[in-house]
Amino acid sequence: MSYESLAASAARSAEIELEVVERVQQSRNVVSLTLRPTDPTGFVPFRAGQHLAFRLGLPQRSVATYTISSSPRDRGRYRISVKHEPQGQGGSDYFHSKAQVGTRLRALAPRGSFVLAEDNRPVILLSGGIGITPALSMLHELAQGAPRPVYFIHACSDASEHNFQQEVAGIARGRPWIRILTAYAAGSADDLAHGNCQHLGILDRDMLRGWLPLDDYRVYMCGPGGFMDAMRAALTGLGLADSDIRQESFGSPLPANSAQVRPTAEQSGVEVRFGRTGLDSTWNGAANLLEFAEAQGLSPDFSCRAGVCGSCQCGLLNGEVEYDEEPLDPLPPGQILLCCSRPKGPIELDL
Ligand code: FES
Repeated sequence: MSYESLAASAARSAEIELEVVERVQQSRNVVSLTLRPTDPTGFVPFRAGQHLAFRLGLPQRSVATYTISSSPRDRGRYRISVKHEPQGQGGSDYFHSKAQVGTRLRALAPRGSFVLAEDNRPVILLSGGIGITPALSMLHELAQGAPRPVYFIHACSDASEHNFQQEVAGIARGRPWIRILTAYAAGSADDLAHGNCQHLGILDRDMLRGWLPLDDYRVYMCGPGGFMDAMRAALTGLGLADSDIRQESFGSPLPANSAQVRPTAEQSGVEVRFGRTGLDSTWNGAANLLEFAEAQGLSPDFSCRAGVCGSCQCGLLNGEVEYDEEPLDPLPPGQILLCCSRPKGPIELDL
């Protein structure tokens, strides 16, 4: 590994202390917070689409991950935009009711590989609900680059949940190569007449066919799981290659007794060594290494428990693991995700 990549990797594993410097109520249930490092030299640059993972002192050392919604060119600060969840899970209660201007909090440096490919192909940014946050950061980035077709397609319930409408319109102003298309599932004829949206109802293949000229697109999408499944089917049905569609999910915990989890004969009874704590345990067919570690009294970081956020990344000192599904983001050599892996034989973890 080069000195530069070692330095970059060290910066990414750093924790940053941040202070809330601005708070904006974006809509009824979404608040945006602008955060600056308390040490101005501690700003770690990010790429559009990456997220911050916050330590909020939630139960079990969990971390809450939120995509950065601001422009990567806006140096020295990060903006996150948080939807209030019904049970306040994932830290949304904290950001909505406790985090005020002046509040200090700690986060891991920006991470994630849901980022724009480094080429000049036409782009579709497709988002549902609060999935607009990475798309907005990407739109900022694309607007600063060489002109190329960009379709910013957003689906939400109605005008009351249409976040960042003015900001998106402002970015597209004077850039005719950026097209903004919005669908309201429960909008009104007035919304259409006033140009708040271009479609009433659910987005589907016919709408996309009508909006998108044939082209060699790369697609980046983010939103609820059902939305992304439907959009992927619609886009591949229109002839786009599955490999050109990238997505970021909002992960949900795997069920504790997931049917995917069945220890094989080779896995049963193998030794799992926790190198840092010096603990040796015998694998018992737990759902995954995260649950196994927790059952031994350890408290690794986690957030999504679904192989999406990267919070449970851990060093594998010896041995091999297998995944139910390969991690969404490629991992650095010698690193694994605990929440979706199991030992293939005796292993030693840096835990
Ligand atoms: S907890 Fe999110 S990837 Fe494991």
